[in-house]
Amino acid sequence: MTTIPNIQLNDGNTIPQLGFGVFQIDPGETAEAVTRAFEVGYRHIDTAEGYGNEAGVGEAVRSSGLARDEVFITSKLDNDSHRPDDARAAFDRTLSELGLDYVDLFLIHWPLPTLYDGDYVSTWRVLEEFKQDGRARSIGVSNFQVDHLDRLIAECDAVPAVNQIELHPYLLNEEVRAHGEAKGIATEAWSPIAKGEVLDDPVVTEIADRVGRSPAQVVLRWHIQRNSIVFPKSTTPERIEENFRIFDFELDDDAMQALGTLDRGDDGRTGPHPDTFAPVSA
Ligand SMILES: NC(=O)c1ccc[n+]([C@@H]2O[C@H](COP(=O)([O-])OP(=O)(O)OC[C@H]3O[C@@H](n4cnc5c(N)ncnc54)[C@H](OP(=O)(O)O)[C@@H]3O)[C@@H](O)[C@H]2O)c1
Repeated sequence: MTTIPNIQLNDGNTIPQLGFGVFQIDPGETAEAVTRAFEVGYRHIDTAEGYGNEAGVGEAVRSSGLARDEVFITSKLDNDSHRPDDARAAFDRTLSELGLDYVDLFLIHWPLPTLYDGDYVSTWRVLEEFKQDGRARSIGVSNFQVDHLDRLIAECDAVPAVNQIELHPYLLNEEVRAHGEAKGIATEAWSPIAKGEVLDDPVVTEIADRVGRSPAQVVLRWHIQRNSIVFPKSTTPERIEENFRIFDFELDDDAMQALGTLDRGDDGRTGPHPDTFAPVSA
């Protein structure tokens, strides 16, 4: 039985370092994929209102037979709901879709600095309400840049427990990661295998051959040894299992360093830039 390490958060809670992401999983297929993940041993699921599949996650939790405190569920505030009353209504919807009375972690999905008068501060204060009333055990942010984090730290009471950012060998995002570490904010690495794009890289495949593991396992293990939290997505049963088997080997310093040389900066992004992403009109 594999034991997933926990990462300590700044609010006293812990989070399993490996989880299962459900972005772009069809709502009708989500319960089946999450059920498969639970069978393999995952206990941490990363969803969002914007993924449209929170109901499938909740269905899988209920049918799993697992106690509520054995699973860690994250969801995120959708981009059209930053205004305080909209955020409160969105959070009610999230709990109702999941069929849960609390989430373990709730995040602002994107900072949207060019929308809502750049006011993600009042949005964050509403997440502080959810933490205070116990319906979100921990609260955090996603895609926040250094200046966005600093503004929350300066103007609000709670420091985000996590910042979920795009991070993989082609986008180290080191400035944001290091700033989080300095401020006690855990880093969650989204698209940890760059949606599959890093898996054919010769540096990755050479290490995979050397250690006798798959390229995905090598890259996920690299994240684990750098203390990031990861939740690879897959709807392929064999890959769901493969991505879980990363706690019975280690990468040596040479491999860790080699994987750290692949950074392409902003050219390595698979998703939008947080400073300019503005998917809704507000
Ligand atoms: N906060 C944000 O803004 C944000 C943005 C993006 C993602 N996320 C979160 O991060 C999670 C993961 O990111 P992601 O889904 O974008 O990308 P990812 O996990 O890096 O990659 C998923 C892709 O890789 C394939 N794959 C998975 N395991 C594999 C393996 N062992 N070998 C080969 N290919 C494999 C999957 O294919 P199959 O499914 O066909 O197997 C899928 O096409 C998301 O599900 C979501 O929870 C958050």
